[in-house]
Parts: sequence; structure tokens; C-alpha cells
Amino acid sequence: MSNASAQAQRVERLDQGMLAGTNRPGPQIRTVQENDSKKKILFVTSELSDLIKTGGLGDVSAALPRALRGHHDVRVLLPGYRQVMQSGHPIRLVGTLAGHAALPPCRIGRIDLDDGLIVYVLISPELYERDGGPYGDNRNQDWPDNHIRFARLGLAAADFAAGDASISWRPDLIHAHDWPAGLAPAYLRWRGQGTPSVFTIHNLAYQGLWRSECCAELAIPAEACRMERMEFHGQLSFLKAGVAYADRITTVSATYAREITTPDFGCGLEGFLREKANHGLLSGIPNGIDESWEPETDPHLLRNFGVNDWAGKALHAEHVRRQFALEPSGGPLFVVVSRLVQQKGLDLTHALAESLVEHGGQLAVLGRGEPQVEDSMRQLAERFPGHVGANIGFDETVARRMFAGGDFLLMPSRYEPCGLSQLYAQRFGSLPIARRTGGLADTIEDGVTGFLFEEASLESYREALLRAFRVFAAPSLFHAMRCRAMAVPCFWRQTIDPYLHLYRQLLVESRHGEA
Ligand code: ADP
Ligand code: GLC
Repeated sequence: MSNASAQAQRVERLDQGMLAGTNRPGPQIRTVQENDSKKKILFVTSELSDLIKTGGLGDVSAALPRALRGHHDVRVLLPGYRQVMQSGHPIRLVGTLAGHAALPPCRIGRIDLDDGLIVYVLISPELYERDGGPYGDNRNQDWPDNHIRFARLGLAAADFAAGDASISWRPDLIHAHDWPAGLAPAYLRWRGQGTPSVFTIHNLAYQGLWRSECCAELAIPAEACRMERMEFHGQLSFLKAGVAYADRITTVSATYAREITTPDFGCGLEGFLREKANHGLLSGIPNGIDESWEPETDPHLLRNFGVNDWAGKALHAEHVRRQFALEPSGGPLFVVVSRLVQQKGLDLTHALAESLVEHGGQLAVLGRGEPQVEDSMRQLAERFPGHVGANIGFDETVARRMFAGGDFLLMPSRYEPCGLSQLYAQRFGSLPIARRTGGLADTIEDGVTGFLFEEASLESYREALLRAFRVFAAPSLFHAMRCRAMAVPCFWRQTIDPYLHLYRQLLVESRHGEA
């Protein structure tokens, strides 16, 4: 059927008169638009929070396709890590992919998640089924063959687009996320495929850099190993490949989109990104959050709460205090829910912890990450027993109850492409105290829904903390700020339009390209 005829309208006769026993009038004629405006979009990602995540990328990869579902047929392509293969979800084998250079052949499985989201799983036990996380082993050491593992992911996306996966579903557009999917737009281009692609930078600092000798293994053409393409100081950068070859580049907030074109945030790619921006190819589209972040209904909570019933909030504060071995207290409870990595500025929180405790505050920390940052958080808990507690690990329920129980969330990030934790905290009435950078600057209104400070310095951070203490001591102001924070419009459904617009533009352009 041609696209035009698929757009034909179907007219449904619902009922032919007054329905027996009801007062509903008839006849009714409803016009059902059955059109081809729903396009097939493949999300290529290394994390999906339903199955595996190390941070916000997993949350966005799960929430954004669902938010787009009313508009497009969005499916996800994810490596078949052990956690995915053993998730308990039935996996149907639906296709096979041929090997190429050093990239082995693999199979495609399909998982239909409970709410209908379709996930294609790239099955290759030798590449993905290992003990550890998506990128490394249990000691946080990256897998040495990550270039093969994630090139395979990128190539699989191009195979899907070419119809080579023996699957009838063939994407109209590829949306690739972060360096692990950076080669998806590149393989499309190298193989002369016209499928349009979007590449989203969630974090520029992770670039996926490899020795240039890997070219042959990955079937990277010689023309790609140049500064104008994916070469980066003599190495190959998967992230740069995504930027170089995608039709559009997005990142996850307007401020970060500007920041990454400057030397302070550009990680050496600022010139390259500036050029993309100057050509109108780079934009910032802020992240949203999924509908489950609703304190009145979230099933993870011990007791739901909302702006008219705060009892659940107090209950969670008590719960968090108990769980983190903190003394009963009438002072403010500060929480940290974070990957424990340099980006997040935890050294600043470490340095201010004494002052926080002296002022009558308490601190609960949840997360894992770099061993030295984990150690520094453990040390804090040992130094201030009853006032600071640290749980090195991650658990979604614990995290949500901390957002619910906290008075303030600490997020002194050195840079923050968007940040989701501050949005979650606001939804649950915990006021973020954060550095004015990236998405934090865009989503927190200083003195209204949280507190922002300018410099990544102790002075600047301390001043914001003291303001928070003062607000805490003024209950009506504190209450008003909490209510404002909980009302911040941050659900994907409220923020999806820029993506719809971008897809539309690209699909129209690619149709003209074909003509
Ligand atoms: P980032 O992606 O940089 O970690 P975000 O604020 O965008 O920061 O996303 C944080 C998300 O990751 C939240 O859902 C948070 O609960 C979760 N998270 C935080 N630390 C961890 C961790 N160690 N492992 C898994 N998820 C984590
Ligand atoms: C990255 C960023 C974070 C962002 C997340 C999802 O991990 O560090 O700021 O919110 O991706 O886009």
C-alpha cells in the first residue's frame, strides 16, 4: 500500500440509534484517522532502566520511547547483557545478523515489555554475557574489547535500517545515544544508506576512544580517520563519529548545548561542535521524566503524599534516618543519590560535611562509582556516625524513598548535561542545592524551587547551603518552595514537542533527498 493510500480515512459506524437501556443518542459516526504519520524509529542505546542502568541514560532510554509512543512506533535496540538475558522476560528469536570484519555474527531477540515497549536484543554471548556492568567488570575495569562490543551495536542498527536483519520492521529513522551507539550513524553513512539519524550526547566526557589500529577490525574506512571525521588526537572516537555522521546532533539541555562549544566543557571537541552549531545541526532538548514520579501514587513509597497531605514525607524522613543509622533529629536531612564520580563534585560535599553537621544537618548518601569517591563517602560516615550515613550500591526503591524523605538534595556537579535527580527530587518535594551549570541551571529556579551557586568552589557552595538552612528555619517559606518545586512541569509529555519537530524535519528532508 502506498503511503498516500495508507493515509486514507476509515469511517467507523459506532451505533445505529439509541442504545437499548441508555440515554446515549445515535447514530454516531466517528472518523478514525489511520495515517502514515507514525514512523518507525529505532533507539540505539547501551542502557534501558527496565533491564539495566548505570545512570540517567537508562532512564531516558526507557522513558522517551514511551512518551513518543502516541506519535511514532519507537523500538529499542540493546546489547544482550547477562542481566538482560536473565531478566525473566521471554525472548523470541526474530533475526540474525552476519559478521563483518572482526564483528561477529549475532542473533536478534525480541522482548515485549509488560506495557508493550518492544526491545530488540543483540544476542552474542561472547560479547555481552559477562559478570559485571554494561561497560566493565565488577571492579569497574572497562572491558578491553568495548570497541568490538559497541561497534557491533552500531553496525546492528545499520543492518536493521538496511533490512538485513531478516526482520520485516525496518526503521525510518535511527536515534543513537552516547558513544556506545556513536558508530550507528557512521555505518549508515559509510554504507551509503539514506536512513536519517539523530545522535544525542548525554555526556561528552565519555568518548569511547580507541587506538587507530582498530580501523580494520571495525571496518572503518580510511576517509573516516581524519580530524574532520572521527579522529581525535591520533585515536578513534566513537562519540566524535556520532557527531560527524549523524544528520542532527542533540544534547540534553539548552545550557549544555552552549557549554560544549566552549573550551571549559567541550572536552577538546568544542571547535567541532561549534561548527555543527553554526550550521544549525546541534541543539539542546531538555530531558523529561516518566509518569511514575508521582508522589501521590508511586508504589515504591511507604506512604504516598502530596501538597495536601505531607504525612508521607515525614514518614520517609524517619525511614531514611533509620536506614542510614542517623539519629532522630529536627534538623534538615540532606540526601545524595548519585553515581559516585568526579563529575558530581562529591569532593566539595565531602569538604563541607563538617560544617553541614555543625549546623544541625544530616546527610544520607546512596550510589556507587569510582573506588576513591566511594571510599571518601564511607570515611565521612565513619567520621560522623549518627549524622552521615553512606550506602555504597544502588537500589531504585531506596533512591525513591530518599527523594521522598529528604529536605534537600545535594548536586554540586562540575558539569551536568541535564541531570534527572534534581527533577526527581523536586517532584518529591526535596529542594535541590546545585551548581548553576548545564541542565541544573535550566531546571532549578534559584530561591524558588531550589538553590543554585555559581562556582565549583567551597565558598560558593557553602553560601547556598547556608541559604538552605535559613529557609529550613522559616517553615512557611520552606513549605512554599516545596510546593513550587513539586509543580515544576518536567514530565516527558510536557516536553516532547522538540523531538517530534526534529524527527518530522529529518523525515521530510530524507524524503526530498530520495525524490
Ligand atoms: P547521571 O546520568 O549523570 O548519573 P542523572 O541525574 O541524569 O545523572 O541520572 C541519575 C539517575 O541514575 C537516577 O535515576 C538515579 O537514581 C540513578 N542512579 C544514581 N546512581 C546510580 C548508580 N550508581 N547506579 C544506577 N543508577 C544510579
Ligand atoms: C548523563 C548525564 C546526565 C543526564 C543523563 C541523561 O549521564 O550525566 O546529566 O541527565 O545522561 O541524559
